[in-house]
Amino acid sequence: MNEQGANTQRAAARVAVIGGTGMNQWPGLQVIAQHAAQTPYGAPSAPLLDGMLDATPAIFLARHGEGHKIPPHAINYRANLRALADAGVRSVIAIAAVGGIADWFAPGEIAIPYDLIDYTWGREHTYSDGSEGAPLDHVEFTQPYAPALRSVLLDTARASATRIAGQGVMAVTQGPRLESAAEVRRMQRDGADMIGMTGMPEAALARELGLNYACIAVSVNWAAGVKGLGNIHAEIEQSIENGMSKVRALLTAALPEIHSESV
Ligand code: HPA
Repeated sequence: MNEQGANTQRAAARVAVIGGTGMNQWPGLQVIAQHAAQTPYGAPSAPLLDGMLDATPAIFLARHGEGHKIPPHAINYRANLRALADAGVRSVIAIAAVGGIADWFAPGEIAIPYDLIDYTWGREHTYSDGSEGAPLDHVEFTQPYAPALRSVLLDTARASATRIAGQGVMAVTQGPRLESAAEVRRMQRDGADMIGMTGMPEAALARELGLNYACIAVSVNWAAGVKGLGNIHAEIEQSIENGMSKVRALLTAALPEIHSESV
């Protein structure tokens, strides 16, 4: 069968993975086609890689672009999410490297956050932007991460003995710099358990488009000042591969469920 024949017989991908720092590629995905998508908001960070994870179709998008060059505040989140929706995706799993604040979230551990606090500014953060033809939608965001999708991740982690350190609240900062110790203390008082730079507006845009969205957060360092004045970059180097191997194991276990249940 030629490649086109194989493609037409293959079920369309319903699940996409957005990979970030530490996961700019997805080695387990057998890529069948690449799409250089275009949207009314411009091009996504990278071509959509359409492939198979074992027997499950899936799409991968490198959030920071090929070669990991786009900083968190300059990512075209609107184009990324719109390109995935246009490709027929229903569920998005976002992979995010974060700094751990909570005691339970040591470097090398993974978590499934259940809520978030947005500290970002100046990003194109909505499709309801007042432009001609744009709807004015006040989307509900009480639970920013899709509960059913989170449940599949937590259940399959349990069934596949992939350790999840906890759930928790994600603080999303502007970056690209890391935080001061006082900023981290403030976020801790606000109720944050971890800090990343890309969780917003990604989660809100997914909600506006009606996509199921959940996050696998990987602690790659203790957030600034949480455990003294450690060397954050050295911590990241030491822990990132350990955390990402857990992410890959969880994706392998969870994707067939997510695809078949379309949660
Ligand atoms: N802060 C914000 N974002 C991050 C961190 C951090 O400590 N580590 C990885 N991403």
